[in-house]
Formats: sequence, C-alpha cells, structure tokens
Amino acid sequence: MNTFDFTLPTKFYVGYGQLEKLKEIAGEYGKKAMICAAKDTMRQLGFLDRVKTLLEAAGVEVAVIDDVEPNPRDIDIDRQVEYFQSEGCDFTIGLGGGSALDTAKAIAFLAAQNGGSVRDYLAGGKKSDLADVKQPYPVICITTTAGTGSEATKWFVVTNTINHDKPGVGHDLLMPSVSIVDPELMMSLPAQITRSCGIDVLFHAMEAYIATCANPFTDALALEAIRLVMKYLGRAIENGKEDKEAREYMAWANTMGGIVIGEGNSGTVAIHALGHSIGGQTNAPHGLTMCPLAVPYIEKTWDADEEKYAALTRAFGYGDDSMSEHELAAMCPQAMKGVLQKFGCDITMRDLGVTEDMIEPMTDSVFKTMAGVLNNSLKKFDREDVIELYKKAM
Ligand SMILES: [Fe+2]
Repeated sequence: MNTFDFTLPTKFYVGYGQLEKLKEIAGEYGKKAMICAAKDTMRQLGFLDRVKTLLEAAGVEVAVIDDVEPNPRDIDIDRQVEYFQSEGCDFTIGLGGGSALDTAKAIAFLAAQNGGSVRDYLAGGKKSDLADVKQPYPVICITTTAGTGSEATKWFVVTNTINHDKPGVGHDLLMPSVSIVDPELMMSLPAQITRSCGIDVLFHAMEAYIATCANPFTDALALEAIRLVMKYLGRAIENGKEDKEAREYMAWANTMGGIVIGEGNSGTVAIHALGHSIGGQTNAPHGLTMCPLAVPYIEKTWDADEEKYAALTRAFGYGDDSMSEHELAAMCPQAMKGVLQKFGCDITMRDLGVTEDMIEPMTDSVFKTMAGVLNNSLKKFDREDVIELYKKAM
C-alpha cells in the first residue's frame, strides 16, 4: 500500500432536518451573509425564505443574489463580488446545486484577493498558479441536489466566456467551513435533474476508484457511494417526491463522491476531463456530459487494473462467482453500458448538441484546462487518444 494523506476541514451536517443547524452556527462566521441562490427555484420552493429566517434568528443580516444559473460564468462572478463588497458581507452561503455552491466559493475567494477578475485565476490566467492566495471569506454550502459533491471539495468551476473553457480552480483554502446536506431539500427535485445529478455522483465515485491517485480511504468511500447509487438512484428518479430513504442515501452518496474527488486526494479521470469540455461548448447538464464517454473510456482502460475493473463490474451488478478477475474486468464496458441504460443515460455526444467541428476545440481545451485530471487516468492519453475517444462518443 502506498502512503496517503487526507484532511476533512469542513464541518458536515448530514440528514433530515439538519438545515435548522444554520440558526445555531451562522453567527460564528460574521454579521452579514451573502446568500448565493440558484435562480428562481430556491425562491419558488420557499428555501430562500427559510434560510433567511434561520439567519435572522441567528442575528445575521442578509444580502441575496438569486440569479445563479447553471454553469457559472466569469462575468457573473466578477459582478457578484462587487455586490458582496458593496454590501459589506462577511461570508457567503451557497444554496442550490453545484453552480450555487461553486458561486459561493468563487465569490468568497475572489473578494479576499486584491481585485482583478476571476478569469485571472482560471487556467491560462495570469494568477492561475494560485501563488500568494489570501485566505478566502468563510463559505457555508447548503446543497439541494445530490450531484456535484461541491459541498465536499476544494474546487469551483467557472466558464470562461472568452474562450469557452470550463476549468476548475482548486486550493486547500477553498474547502467550505460548513456543509449542510439535508435530503428534505432534495425531495422536490424533478426526475431529469435527479438523473443528471445522480449519474455525476456515480462518475465521481467510479473515476476516483480507478484513478492513479486512488488510495484506501477513497476506495472505501467510492465503493460505498457506487453501491448506494446502484441501489437508490433509480428509486429517486422514479419516485423522488415520496421516497425519503432514496433521497437520503443519494444525498450521502453525493457527499462521499465529493470527498473522494476532493479532500480524499483521489480525483476524476479522462471521463470528467473530456466531459468538462463538452459542457463548455454546449452548456449541457454536467452529469450528462460524461455519459457518452464512459463506455469507450472503459474499453480502452479495463486491462490497466483488472482487480479494480472487476470490482466495478461486480458493483454494477454484473458477473458471477464463476468468473475470473480477468473475465469480470473484460466485462466492465458491457456493465457500464447496462448501468447507463438502467438510469436512462445511454446517450451520445450528438444528443447533447455536439457537432464534429467542436472536437478540435474541445480537445484543445482538455489539454489546456484539464491536463492534470487527464493524467489521473490509468492509461496515458495523448491528443490522438482524446480525439479518438470523442469520436467514439459521437
Ligand atoms: Fe462531476
């Protein structure tokens, strides 16, 4: 076993009713909070009012931005930071899915630096080495989806509106101070969002398990997250408004998926590296962008670690005790295909709006913004390999 390390600096509150904890703890982070809420839905569902009421009960003043759209853009973050500063806020609260949480992290980060645009910190920007980063303002994440795992990572992802890259910014100081994972807030998620977020959970766990940087800590959490997704995602898609148990375990699977790609020090692989560029070009829901890539990726890599891929095949519910590790590992592409079909995610890149002429710029973007993630893969991916994978996923 190789040596490994992990840190979990975030305080997590997990389970039904944990939103109420906000009333007890918010005052520790300052006198005024900026809530960064997902557009329309947080107000419509009454979550924004509930959070405001809890903050007021804690004696915390509130400023609100509630126009956070999917796939946050650099120009929006820059504008929101100005508002954070003009309102004299002390901390941010992300309320919504990954985009709201990432926005809260990005604002808290950028507001603490010495001016400039968030674009300066994105891949290729003049401060993208993140040297001399100042301590960001505190962040509280309240996740309302079982998806990105952002409440448990040191990453935020922002779309660069000039070149359409969708890079992540990661730094140890970007871990949220507090994350509240209350499945009650997920009960009303529509089936389509439950699906696209839930499949992202599966990819986080699965990719972290087969990454070069996987370790015993992340392996244990990843396999458990996969087990829970296999058991509960279908139920959450079919009957998410009623099935409290399915929502509860998908919420926990999501947080474990975040831990394994973040502070557990494993990471995602080429599937996410290539998926991000699909999202940058098409604005497709993040979780779906990995689906077309998964089977061709596994076809290329399954023999790189037969024990791991055999375990994945079993975790996906395929194979039997009579099969060797080699046979089980070789079956992994078929098992992956079956899983995607089971969850209604067996789609092509064309289904997401990708056209042939996008493959070149997407490939450029992978190497510019996601090279580190690409290199977590168990096999080496050069430019020709990336293009070939994209073509197979069309
Ligand atoms: Fe993801």
